[in-house]
Amino acid sequence: MKTPKSFEQPVYVTRPPLPDRNAVYRKIDEIWDSQWLTNIGYQHKLFESKLQEYLAVPNVSLFCNGTMALQMACQALRLSGEVITTPFTFAATPHVLYWNNLKPVFCDIEPETFNLDPQRIESLISPQTTAILPVHVFGYPCNIEAIQEIADKYGVRVIYDAAHCFGVEINGNPIGIFGDLSMFSFHATKIFHTFEGGALTFKDNSIKERLELSKNFGFRNEETIVVPGINGKMNEFQAALGTLMLDIIEDEMHKRKKLVMIYRERLKNIAGINFRGDIPGVKHNYYNFAITVDATEFGISRDELYKTLKKYNIFTRKYFYPLCSQFQCYRNYPSSAPENLPVAERVSKSILTLPLYGSLREADIHKICDIIATYAYSSAYNLNVSSICYSN
Ligand SMILES: Cc1ncc(COP(=O)(O)O)c(C=O)c1O
Repeated sequence: MKTPKSFEQPVYVTRPPLPDRNAVYRKIDEIWDSQWLTNIGYQHKLFESKLQEYLAVPNVSLFCNGTMALQMACQALRLSGEVITTPFTFAATPHVLYWNNLKPVFCDIEPETFNLDPQRIESLISPQTTAILPVHVFGYPCNIEAIQEIADKYGVRVIYDAAHCFGVEINGNPIGIFGDLSMFSFHATKIFHTFEGGALTFKDNSIKERLELSKNFGFRNEETIVVPGINGKMNEFQAALGTLMLDIIEDEMHKRKKLVMIYRERLKNIAGINFRGDIPGVKHNYYNFAITVDATEFGISRDELYKTLKKYNIFTRKYFYPLCSQFQCYRNYPSSAPENLPVAERVSKSILTLPLYGSLREADIHKICDIIATYAYSSAYNLNVSSICYSN
């Protein structure tokens, strides 16, 4: 096979969808005219109600970012002691527990979904356990029924880190209605973003007031401060962007779906490259496209493929490597021992997230796949990969 040329411009793992520039200017005019920049103004109220409708959930509370939202979720449920969570996640998930004086207890993941394995949760429950914090990794829903069954059996709470899961549904049910609360991140790297931002969704109406107080320093009114709150508010510009993003999110998901189908078709016959398909009954959001690389079958390792693609100007990411259980701050916990987390260890060492965003061209996906195929081909014919030159 002829060696493909490098990309002239860098191809990053993701690029943010952005609303129409003129619509943003009009929103800025509204904010300027109102001179109300933060503290739960018109844009905040508008976005919150539109988001509640879009996510089809009983309650929404907006935050300055997803990490703060998760912090507030732990506070709202008055958690203490230990929380069972996954090591295969972004650093924010266990860090939030740490900042709430809670101890993360790491539990292994399922090989098919990369989500918390319900079969491994029960053995980690102790008298100190007050909650389970699963992550819907890369937008693939956790085994919600099994997790809820365990939570009910032991009387512990469930907070979902749904940072990747915007717009996902299971058998027509919105992802945000499960567990006690779900956290969505609106960081710029997410399929739905407000530059920075986040939200909690939940069924229990009584949580709403607690969250509103907590994220605004505990102010009930000008002279009454009822809890030791913090500043977790979303500002008016973030909220205005959120309202505009709701207009383009379906289109972005549609575009990403088309591109994912090309990846799947092109990579399905390459030995040693594996990826997840759609789950029946799930409306996916196609947030990202992650493969695992089996070095023996494919011929080169995940790390070699990562470096090789970089030479072609393709910037992939090793999400999530290293595992959170291997961070210096957590690696001495008994639950962090690699022998307790064999699936997470294996997935973390083989995972690679390929570029995916709505404005990526189909031809670019074909070219990325051509490059990957070149290396599979080289291994099949026992060529020395390092001898293949990159033509410009
Ligand atoms: C799984 C997960 N949890 C939490 C976060 C934190 O969200 P934020 O960046 O909005 O604080 C992120 C991403 O940023 C994430 O990927």
